[in-house]
Amino acid sequence: MELILKDIEKSFGDKQVLKKASFTFEKGRIYGLLGRNGSGKTTLFNCISEDDKQDSGTVELVDETGNDIMNYSSIGYAFAQPVLPEFLTGYEFLKFYIDVNKDNIQNLLSIDEYFDIIKIEKEDRYRLIKDYSFGMKNKIQMVCFLITKPPVILLDEPLTSFDVVVAYEIKQLLKKIKSDHILIFSTHILELATDLCDDIVVLNNGQLELVDEELLKSPDFEEKIMDILKEDSDVSSVS
Ligand SMILES: Nc1ncnc2c1ncn2[C@@H]1O[C@H](COP(=O)(O)OP(=O)(O)OP(=O)(O)O)[C@@H](O)[C@H]1O
Ligand SMILES: [Mg+2]
Repeated sequence: MELILKDIEKSFGDKQVLKKASFTFEKGRIYGLLGRNGSGKTTLFNCISEDDKQDSGTVELVDETGNDIMNYSSIGYAFAQPVLPEFLTGYEFLKFYIDVNKDNIQNLLSIDEYFDIIKIEKEDRYRLIKDYSFGMKNKIQMVCFLITKPPVILLDEPLTSFDVVVAYEIKQLLKKIKSDHILIFSTHILELATDLCDDIVVLNNGQLELVDEELLKSPDFEEKIMDILKEDSDVSSVS
């Protein structure tokens, strides 16, 4: 399975954010998407998830036989700011989520088993989401993917709100599920990208670029990435 982006263009007014961005993401790999603030990472995720339509270019999800298998349930998207119904308890929300997606769920576990996986304590399960911490809300977003298992999972800045222990647990979780998914997450944390990801993709001047594997292993990796990202700001300050 591959997620194929071809020549994605997206502008807001006269600001061109994505300039024929193309890339092929493969199943079984975790991709770290690096880019400066405002480089267009969230915009790209919105185009992939169809939350916002690109001006031109195509997004396809193709299976092993080359057929486009994209449908409404193909993409799981965790927003940087979790969007959850605050007036439900965590337990009520998961019950609701399972109910509306029931035709689409395989190997369903019990709600408590899901809470166990993301380590939300028993007493917190029946509290309103409005009183959850930011990290707990992010965990709830994350568990939705464990329930419905969308083939493509987009995580916009997901791990920054987690404390070190939770971030470690979520990283383990992502590694465990990665073989069945295409996982792309945006981050500003270079260490996280190198630590968790199989590939690093830079969004640079509106285009996607794979960071060479040799470069990833080289001792001056951090400097080289800085050079690439700084080039971007030089270009945009000129234009
Ligand atoms: N709905 C919108 N209307 C107008 N401009 C927008 C809109 N959404 C994004 N932009 C602009 O597009 C550019 C890219 O924004 P985007 O949010 O995709 O960046 P980002 O890489 O996700 O940044 P960050 O790292 O800060 O999250 C920015 O200049 C932003 O101002
Ligand atoms: Mg963003």
